[in-house]
Amino acid sequence: VAIAREAAAGARDLDALRDAMAAFEHCDLKRGAERLVFADGDPAARLMIVGEAPGRDEDREGRPFVGRAGQLLDRMLAAIGLDRQAKGEEGVYITNVLPWRPPQNRDPKPDEIAMLKPFLDRHIALADPDILVVMGNISAQAMLGKRGITRLRGTWTEALDRPVLPMFHPAYLLRNPAAKREAWADLLDLQAKLKETAP
Ligand code: URA
Repeated sequence: VAIAREAAAGARDLDALRDAMAAFEHCDLKRGAERLVFADGDPAARLMIVGEAPGRDEDREGRPFVGRAGQLLDRMLAAIGLDRQAKGEEGVYITNVLPWRPPQNRDPKPDEIAMLKPFLDRHIALADPDILVVMGNISAQAMLGKRGITRLRGTWTEALDRPVLPMFHPAYLLRNPAAKREAWADLLDLQAKLKETAP
């Protein structure tokens, strides 16, 4: 982890961080993955979303959230006027806790998350969003050190000196459509917070 911390701290901008991650050899996940999945959207956006890990589609394309969960995420964002293709006010920046796909999409192990966390922290520091959304258990655990997204979701908290909203992961919503009601409430809450904190 000390090596990761040093590599992450040495990155002066997002391109350098991506290069540092691509050159990082101390995570087994890298060997099983096709591609590094770094981020998508506008790094200058006020909102940054942190998902879990690339799946098969993301691993193939090298972009986060391009599969079914990603399509749902795009619709969720569109519902509150956000678009990862957009710049400025409507923009959003998207990444994952893990930049490499775990084999067979298994859950990432705690030591894998711990090893890569310095890169995520640096990623957030460099992108410097006003607001962070953590989607799903893995992301909430990594950013907040707490488990149980069902309990955590919908309540604003703080991490790395900025407001954080935990939400259900869109892959969870695909499996549990009834939970879309809570997700909708959280989206409206997020929209209100973006408005309230607008410069
Ligand atoms: N699920 C995630 O958490 N991230 C992705 O990039 C795709 C699916």
